[in-house]
Amino acid sequence: MRKIFTFLMCLAMLHVAIAQDNKLIKASMDKVRLEFMLDAGGKPLYSVYYGEKPVIKPSVMGFTLADDILFDKNFEITGSEQTSVNETWKPVWGEVSSIRNHYQQVTIHLKQKNSPGRLMNIIFRVFEDGVGFRYEFPKQSNLKYFIVSNELTGFNMAGDHKTFWIPGDYDTNEYQYTTSKISEIDNRQMVASSTDIAVRVAPDPYAVQTPLMMKTADGLYINIHEAALTNFPAMQLHVDRNTYQLTASLVPDAVGNKAYAHAPFKSPWRTIIISNKATDILSSKMILNLNEPSKIEETSWIKPMKFVGVWWEMQTGRSTWNYSNDEDTFSADGKLIPNGTHGGNTANVKRYIDFAAANGLQGVLVEGWNVGWESWFGNWKEHVFNFVTPYPDFDVKELSQYAASKGVHMIMHNETSGSATDYERQMDTAYRFMNKYGYTSVKTGYVGKIIPRGEHHDGQWMVEHYVRVAQKAADHHVMLDAHEPVRPTGLQRTYPNWMACEAGRGNEYNAFSNGSKPEHETIMPFTRLIGGPMDYTPGLFKLKGYTNVPGRQVHSTLAKQLALYITMYSPLQMAADLPENYEKHMDAFQFIKDVAVDWDDTKILEAEPGDYITIARKAKGSSNWFIGAITDENRRNAYLPLNFLDKDKKYVATIYADADDADYQSNPEAYQIKKYLVDANTKLNLKLATGGGAAVSIKLVAAEDKGIKFYK
Ligand code: NOJ
Ligand code: CA
Repeated sequence: MRKIFTFLMCLAMLHVAIAQDNKLIKASMDKVRLEFMLDAGGKPLYSVYYGEKPVIKPSVMGFTLADDILFDKNFEITGSEQTSVNETWKPVWGEVSSIRNHYQQVTIHLKQKNSPGRLMNIIFRVFEDGVGFRYEFPKQSNLKYFIVSNELTGFNMAGDHKTFWIPGDYDTNEYQYTTSKISEIDNRQMVASSTDIAVRVAPDPYAVQTPLMMKTADGLYINIHEAALTNFPAMQLHVDRNTYQLTASLVPDAVGNKAYAHAPFKSPWRTIIISNKATDILSSKMILNLNEPSKIEETSWIKPMKFVGVWWEMQTGRSTWNYSNDEDTFSADGKLIPNGTHGGNTANVKRYIDFAAANGLQGVLVEGWNVGWESWFGNWKEHVFNFVTPYPDFDVKELSQYAASKGVHMIMHNETSGSATDYERQMDTAYRFMNKYGYTSVKTGYVGKIIPRGEHHDGQWMVEHYVRVAQKAADHHVMLDAHEPVRPTGLQRTYPNWMACEAGRGNEYNAFSNGSKPEHETIMPFTRLIGGPMDYTPGLFKLKGYTNVPGRQVHSTLAKQLALYITMYSPLQMAADLPENYEKHMDAFQFIKDVAVDWDDTKILEAEPGDYITIARKAKGSSNWFIGAITDENRRNAYLPLNFLDKDKKYVATIYADADDADYQSNPEAYQIKKYLVDANTKLNLKLATGGGAAVSIKLVAAEDKGIKFYK
């Protein structure tokens, strides 16, 4: 029945599209409606509605190219087609095991009336939860190689919405979020004061990054981002504070151009996710759906995992990445002089391998294992690291064998400090080295100014670099976690070995700066994580007194750190703290041991950007569920009906909650753990402290659970 209806709807719309050439072209899905027209001057305009509410008022589309080639007006519509797709596909890993891709597509063929009659197509896909569109420059005799000077796409917002934004910086996404009206956006103070971020280049005070999250006064949630960003620079948004119009602003290259293209050419998708429910924004699969299917055919080697790392001890200053204090001073026999604080040494790494093995964590990351850390960033030098030469106290062969004997996978670290050219020269050798020593994944990093000099982290050259790295890693069956890349746009569907990115302000800011506000983690899933998983590095247990900096602390309770394993989705999850800090709280660590990293199903139970998020997920191939609930600086009660559980089964829920007197500032490490019998009729009432959270693991009841009482 539904199929017939879809078919009829499709026919009806095909008719509209053809009959109204050069007038209004419409397409809709559920409450989302798209309209497209050319104005009297042949300028393309689109608008988007949610029910009767305007979301995007008529907004311009097009480009200006170098050599005064304008793709902005004088168009006529030479044809249009409409298709409808309703399919499901299975991601290699993800928040759900099966994804529905259901949309109406309208392709509009445009031709310029003035000579030489250049061609451009615009492809819209209208989903139940928003609209995506891309530009296509077909093969044509008067446009072959071209340079994009500007993208003109506008997003003409219908009001002065509340926005959750970070500055439109060409090199970083690691800012704290500001919540303000569109009319109040001005990034200058944030850029100037964020001295904890290594490289900041934000020339436009009124530019913001995407994903940009907005909320209208009448309760509509709108998210603008892009999908399938390849061979093009990242899109930022320039804000007109008077008209509330946002305009695409592409990150330039070293000489000021935006993109180099060769027709036929397709731009990335511009995406607008819309709902009257905040929870729908978090469950939207539009960005993944707009990406190409996996280019990797045999994917059995791609496995989500949890890991520990020789990492937090360097972040907090207890040990160092570098083996020596000076790369220019040597001992009599010509060797580097050890400083005695080097963290990535064989004995210390074994300690982490032992801890991982004892607790069923699959991976161990080691940073500072390779030569080059003595002056690793800030000098803009091209050759920094060697990716196959360990420091003298890191025995790669022995450690690989040791890890393998304990069933633990070593995670390679390739920090490039922004020298992408140097990495490209060494990449092949680096991945062969990983294969030789059994490393199954790599964490890359791009701290510092980019080389080729003058390029930016988010420009076209680097966008292509990150993809080349993902491809090279795939060729060698290596999984990838990229730090400081451009923010993700769903490419993890196409390259499922590209498991996670940082590309945002991670937990590490609590080590080397004053960290982030408690609301930070309630905003990230609506912004940074809309494009893909984040290596946020959750799981800090020692929340005060972990550095020598007086007064420094993590702005979170311990229970909230557990909840982040659910609310900050990633198929690679670190247990970020030191083994000795976990050993003091093995009862709480049990949650990290148990929690899954790959899921059959996800229910976004409640969410409000900047305030709270509660998510339940069902582990892949299992009947176990895990819940994470977090709040901002306000305490709150989360009421959770467990009606997603199987109706005829009984479960045991282990609740890891803030203690009654917990508080993220004065008493962050206070937690309580309780076990109850629950079923599908249970309604949990979780009490979250200020800056707090709760984590729950739910398993089918077993024989050893005798005596556990029903939850009341
Ligand atoms: C920044 C990364 O985010 C962090 O995880 C890493 O430890 C340092 N760079 C050094 O590579
Ligand atoms: Ca970083």
